[in-house]
Amino acid sequence: MRTLSARILLGFMALTLAFGGITINIVINQRTLAGYVGTLNTGLLPVAETTKDLARREEELRQFLADGFDKDATVETAKLRLDGFRQRRDKEVAALQKFVSEYSDIEALDRKHSLRNSIDTIQQQVELLKPRYDGLELALRQSESVANDSVNAGLAPLRDGERALASLTNDLANKIQNRVKTGLEDLQKGEKESLGITILLGAVAVALGLMMTTWVVITLRPLRRLQNAARLVASGDYGSRIEERGPAEVADLARELNTMARAVEERERELVRSERLAAVGKMAAMITHEVRNPLSSIGLNTELLDDELGDASQEARNLCRAIHREVDRLTAITEEYLTFARLPKPKIQPEAINPMVGALAAFVRGDLAAKKVDLAVELGEPDPIALVDAGQIRQCLINLVRNASEALSTKGGGTVTLRTRRSGDRITIAVEDNGVGIPADVLPRLFDPFFSTKEGGSGLGLALTQQIVKDHGGDLSVESTAGKGTTFTVSVPAKP
Ligand SMILES: Nc1ncnc2c1ncn2[C@@H]1O[C@H](COP(=O)(O)OP(=O)(O)O)[C@@H](O)[C@H]1O
Ligand SMILES: [Mg+2]
Repeated sequence: MRTLSARILLGFMALTLAFGGITINIVINQRTLAGYVGTLNTGLLPVAETTKDLARREEELRQFLADGFDKDATVETAKLRLDGFRQRRDKEVAALQKFVSEYSDIEALDRKHSLRNSIDTIQQQVELLKPRYDGLELALRQSESVANDSVNAGLAPLRDGERALASLTNDLANKIQNRVKTGLEDLQKGEKESLGITILLGAVAVALGLMMTTWVVITLRPLRRLQNAARLVASGDYGSRIEERGPAEVADLARELNTMARAVEERERELVRSERLAAVGKMAAMITHEVRNPLSSIGLNTELLDDELGDASQEARNLCRAIHREVDRLTAITEEYLTFARLPKPKIQPEAINPMVGALAAFVRGDLAAKKVDLAVELGEPDPIALVDAGQIRQCLINLVRNASEALSTKGGGTVTLRTRRSGDRITIAVEDNGVGIPADVLPRLFDPFFSTKEGGSGLGLALTQQIVKDHGGDLSVESTAGKGTTFTVSVPAKP
């Protein structure tokens, strides 16, 4: 889960699932309520209506029987009226039966079969009373008037029977009425609950959405860091670096930006260096023209003057020598500039390194000894052969040894070690000293032209050395510990 895209994908998946769940829940609630309303509308309410009709018809029949036949009525009309009441009641019973047996979702309507049982009981009672009605009808047919004893005798059990039936139908009507009432109440409750759940889930979804948004904002915040860093680099501040942490893509991008800043910084330094080198070239041309020739004639004339003075005045001769020393120093510096300006392309050829280093050591040993600096030489075996311009590499080594001895003389002496070695397709020549070392903040500027910590130093030695080594397709590196010493290593191509 380290990558930004995976995190965001997961977040949106969670959000989508949540919304899906909420929608399904709402639909299910809706369907349940709709089912409820359906049962109520097409089942319970019509049954309640029919049962109420039945109860009314039953009550009419019961009342008719309780009142007895009209005394003035003929047997015919009495029979007709009785039949009318009975038929109307029977029609309602049949309607009820039909509805219950045909209703599609009877399970939902009459789960415990209590409705059906009640209707069956009523039907049975109606059937039971049928023979008695037949008896009454016979009595009516056989008598001339309705006020006959056998007619009255036939009426009595029917009154009892229909009274019982009236009470049964009333009970049923009340029962169904109650069910309609509780059904409506349930519906209201269900609707309220469903509304509550919908509001709750909606709130959860909104909260989830807000959380997700906040989370995405927080996750994307490191991008701002990168943006600011890129802006800094663009404005020329190549030194600042970004922390390489956060989600994988951000860390990668930070690393890339840092690499880019480092490269730009290095390029910038390189540019400054080469600009300065160009300046050195121009200056050298000028110096050759305006300074070098007068300087050599000043030197020559001072020498002549010194000879001319003879033993005359020691004081004057000392002055002459002081002038000569300064002229020598100036000449040395102008020579350094000139080497730079006229640095020719190296004439590369196979060169045995050990003899070259040995000869160099012999050449500088005397000078170094005068400054209390020992010189040690460790030559690698077998004698490494390099592809170099011997004269130029010798110049480089002289520069490095001079710097080393200068670093040593500031602390009163020490040892310079020259070490040759072959490693793979490279040959390295190390110049090591146990002098003052180089502070870490100075290291990056070491090879800049004109950079010097010495009074009267040209700051060109290392710049020149690096230029030469680079022209050889080689590399000049430095390792230093302040207070302990420094090692410069020249690495050049070996002869295959
Ligand atoms: N071996 C060394 N030990 C300590 N510092 C050194 C050494 N070599 C070079 N340096 C530092 O690098 C600087 C640049 O050297 P260089 O380019 O030869 O110029 P210069 O010798 O004229 O100062 C020196 O001024 C010195 O501070
Ligand atoms: Mg130097």
